[in-house]
Amino acid sequence: MTTHKNFVPPPMPILSSVIGLREKAELLSGGAIDLSVGNPIDPVPDIVVESLKDHDLARPYPISAKRDEAMSEVINDWAQRQLKTTVHSSNYGICIGTKEFVAGAPNILKLRDSSRDTVLYPEVAYPSYEMGAELAGCRAVPVAMNEKWEIDVSSIDPQDAQRALMMWINTPGNPAGGLDDLETVVQWGRENNVPIFSDECYVEFTWDGPPQSVLQHGTEGVVAVHSLSKRSNLAGLRFGFYAGDSELVKYFRDVRRHQGLMVPGHAQVAGIAALEDQTHVDVQRARYESRLKRLIEVLSMIGVEAEMPRGSFYLWVPSPKKDSGKLALQLAETLGIVSVPGETYGARGAGYVRLAAIVSEDDLSLLENRAQSA
Ligand SMILES: Cc1ncc(COP(=O)(O)O)c(C=O)c1O
Repeated sequence: MTTHKNFVPPPMPILSSVIGLREKAELLSGGAIDLSVGNPIDPVPDIVVESLKDHDLARPYPISAKRDEAMSEVINDWAQRQLKTTVHSSNYGICIGTKEFVAGAPNILKLRDSSRDTVLYPEVAYPSYEMGAELAGCRAVPVAMNEKWEIDVSSIDPQDAQRALMMWINTPGNPAGGLDDLETVVQWGRENNVPIFSDECYVEFTWDGPPQSVLQHGTEGVVAVHSLSKRSNLAGLRFGFYAGDSELVKYFRDVRRHQGLMVPGHAQVAGIAALEDQTHVDVQRARYESRLKRLIEVLSMIGVEAEMPRGSFYLWVPSPKKDSGKLALQLAETLGIVSVPGETYGARGAGYVRLAAIVSEDDLSLLENRAQSA
C-alpha cells in the first residue's frame, strides 16, 4: 500500500521562536524592543508616495508593453549604477515581493526538469529556501558554510549536485551577514549544470567593499533576485525583480504569467520611481550603519561582543557559552530586546542570536540607558 504524506503548514519560524522572549522583555519599564524581524520602520520615499496617486492604474490588468519598457530601462540603469553590470531588456521579470518568488521557484524549476528533485541552500539561511523546496515536494539539502559564513561549494556531495534543480545563495546573507565568493559559486554551478539563484535583497547594505552580484560573472546559469522591501522601505508594496540567464528568466516569466502572478500596476509604477532614485537609499544606508554601530556599543556595555556584519542590517551575535537561548534570555531580561535564537536559521546557527538593526532613535536611547544602568 502506498503511503501519502500530507503537507501540514508549520508555524512561522521567527514568530514562534520569540514568544517567551517577548514576555520577558515586556516586564522592563518602557516595554520590549523588538529586534526580531527585518520589518522597515523608516519613511517611504516621497517620490514613491507621489507615484501612487494615479487612480487609473487600478483599472486595467497590470501588464503593459510601455511599462515593461520603462521597467527594463530603469532596472538596467540601476544595475549599471550600483552593480557595474547590465541587464538586457529580455533578461528580467518582476515579482510580488521576493518571498513568493523564493518559495515558488523550486516548483517552477521542477516543471522545467522533472528528472531533478533537490534544492541546495546555505545551512544557515532565510527559512523560505527550505520551505520552497518542501512546497514543491523536493529534497532540501543544506550546504555547509565556512567560518566566515560563506557557502562552501566544495563540500557538496556530487550525487546531490546531480539531482539539484537549483542552488540558493544569499549575499549579503541573512542572518549572518556573510559575503559569498561569487566567482567560485558561479563556476561550480556552470561545471555542475546547477542554476545558481542569488538572493541579493541586501546588496545595497554591503559594508565590506562594493556591492557584489552574480550578474557580474555573466548571466549563463545564474539568476539574481532583488527586492525593494529593504532598500526603499517598501515591504508593504510588494515589489521585486529577478534577472539573469535569458532562458531561465523567460521560463519563469511564461509560467508565472499562467499562474496569474502579476505585480499590481501601482506597485510597478512605484517600483520604477524607487529604482530611479539613489538618494533615499544613501540616507537609509547611513541609518542602518549608525544603528548597527550603536547596537554593537550597547551590547559591549553589558559585556556581549558583536562585530559589524560584512553586509545586511543584522547583528549575528555569538553567545560566549555557545547557548543562544541563554544569550537571547539575557538580552530580553537586561535590555528588553527581543532577538531570534540562531537555530531558527538552521542547526549550525545554534550558539548565535540575530538582532535586526531596525530600531527607532527613541528605542536606541532607551537601550543605551538600560545598558548603562545594567
Ligand atoms: C534573505 C531574504 N530574502 C528574501 C526576503 C523577502 O523579502 P520580500 O518578500 O519583502 O522581497 C527576505 C525578507 O526578510 C530576506 O531576508
